[in-house]
Amino acid sequence: METIVSTDTRRAAALLQAGEVVAIPTETVYGLAANALDPGAVEKIFRLKGRPHSDPLIVHVANAERVSPLVAEVPLWAEKLMSLFWPGPLTILLPKSPQVPAIVTAGLNTVAMRCPKHPLTQALLELLPFPLAAPSANPFGRVSPTTPAHVLEYFDGQIPFILDGGPCDTGIESTIIGEENGRLVIYRPGAITKETLEEVLDTKIGYRLHAKDQPQTPGQFPKHYAPKKPLLYGWQDPPLERSASIVLFESEIDPTDHPYVHTLAPSGSIEEAASRFYQVLHACEKDPTEYILFQEVPQEGLGLAIHDRLRRAHHPSVFTIGHSNHPWELFLDLLRYYEIGAILDLRRKPASAIAPHFNQGILQKALSAEGIVYDWQPMPNRVLFSLEKLMNRVPRVALLCAEADPTKCHRYKESDELTEKGFAVFHIYPDYSLRLHKAELSLPFGE
Ligand code: TXA
Ligand code: MG
Repeated sequence: METIVSTDTRRAAALLQAGEVVAIPTETVYGLAANALDPGAVEKIFRLKGRPHSDPLIVHVANAERVSPLVAEVPLWAEKLMSLFWPGPLTILLPKSPQVPAIVTAGLNTVAMRCPKHPLTQALLELLPFPLAAPSANPFGRVSPTTPAHVLEYFDGQIPFILDGGPCDTGIESTIIGEENGRLVIYRPGAITKETLEEVLDTKIGYRLHAKDQPQTPGQFPKHYAPKKPLLYGWQDPPLERSASIVLFESEIDPTDHPYVHTLAPSGSIEEAASRFYQVLHACEKDPTEYILFQEVPQEGLGLAIHDRLRRAHHPSVFTIGHSNHPWELFLDLLRYYEIGAILDLRRKPASAIAPHFNQGILQKALSAEGIVYDWQPMPNRVLFSLEKLMNRVPRVALLCAEADPTKCHRYKESDELTEKGFAVFHIYPDYSLRLHKAELSLPFGE
């Protein structure tokens, strides 16, 4: 199948009317659209994305009037939000009417309604006698697309048409709001902030971000928005490792110092950061690097939406470090440089003849003075358990080995096991460089 990229809305409409899937531009990200009232057409979306049927789709309409046949009722708060923010990046969960097929809502009794702002998609929706079900146009779990080129990379030859609306402005998905037990809640932070919504409705709104507050352990971590290579999020000051793509919020580092530094918001504005977010992740995937180190983004307003995506894309990471030839000051510098929050000591005998400052009692006291957590786990079959406990407290844990070079450590084979469990394992070499244990990391999400 040839994938046509064009601005021809009539052609897009004809294909959709024939039950095909077409990629459409919105102000947030590109969507993979089909007739929301045709279960066969919607099924094609699930198949293309590899998306589980338990994950419902958003239904896109041309305007607020077109909502009524699709829902059982429109409460006052929803009516107000539609009049204020539509067309725009706000998705509203409403009780569904029998018109909406169960496949769209994953059998739930609510339907997600959205009126996108992009002029081409507005024109397209006006041409169609039905609404469009559309998730973001990426394979399930991958980085969302914000340009036609991103969509083409994923689906070239698999869909007949991409409606070319240029790069998306907002760049981060719509906010999803709904009502639960008489209280308004945000299910996904997005382009319209909680503060803005609270102000216009003059009421408190909660968050219900499934799994967001769960411990960051593999298997429990929600699969979403993930680049193909390990992404380590939450650095105050990302180390300028040569084998990494570095993403900074603002530009503080001279980019000539490192070949793969990306700045999210050259102007420092959070809107700019959001609009460039997915584009920067796509660029990082293309860099000839092994992993991505992502600086912490400010967690307010729109920053919260970016932070939420990054927490989901972040790979839990473990560092291995040997002790014997590191003088204490250098060792501390190393921990600071890699922003290690906890040490898990794997040594069977936590004492050192060569370097007495690595004797357990002394080490533990010195680390605690630095605000670094210390734990000792000499039993191989208990390492994972101790590690997960520490990772609930700090984002980066280092495993301490007896040998200087952790790859020479007799516990080395545990790195394989941890990698298989979905951790990104990094070895800190005696020359202080960092290497990923295996470039071929199996994603914690089981892609
Ligand atoms: O900005 C956006 O919203 C983009 C563009 C294309 O419109 N769409 C988008 O769709 O982000 P998608 O499928 O990638 O994400 C939709 C989210 C999913 O997390 C899904 O679980 C949630 O919306 N959702 C949809 N219907 C729901 C429902 N009835 N109840 C709870 N969550 C729902
Ligand atoms: Mg998506």
